[in-house]
Amino acid sequence: MDMNKVTTAMIDYYKGDPKRIQHFLKVHAYAKLIGEQEGLDKETLEVLEVAALTHDIGIKVSEEKYNSSAGKYQEIEGPAVAQKMLGDLQYDKEKTERVCYLIGHHHTYDQINGIDYQILVEADFLVNLAEEHSSRQTIESVKNKIFKTKTGIWLINKIF
Ligand SMILES: [Fe+2]
Repeated sequence: MDMNKVTTAMIDYYKGDPKRIQHFLKVHAYAKLIGEQEGLDKETLEVLEVAALTHDIGIKVSEEKYNSSAGKYQEIEGPAVAQKMLGDLQYDKEKTERVCYLIGHHHTYDQINGIDYQILVEADFLVNLAEEHSSRQTIESVKNKIFKTKTGIWLINKIF
């Protein structure tokens, strides 16, 4: 998959919302960096990158439907929207399934299954901790409880 196709589809989907657009661009950049540094195989890296670009695709529907961008609603609403977008882009069915699973679980931290899931969560935290101006205490707690990859731990230590 040409990642620029997913990137432009997501920019179009979130047109007029620079905050959301910049968020997924940053999460994608960190996810790609971590994935490459951790030596992911080509297929897993691709799924990770598509998931990083689309992980918050459910926010728009959540805000419209529930007036909330809470993680739980995004997890419920996101997969169907991604299914449609990736289907339009004729993306591989099996990979679409994993991407949708990741979208549906990216705010669930107690059942991380797979390096793609782990890295997506780490990349999202690297961006969210900065965007939310999180306290030193929160950063330390997230680092200890969530971060596992060598590159992710290196990044959280350097960035904050
Ligand atoms: Fe996010």
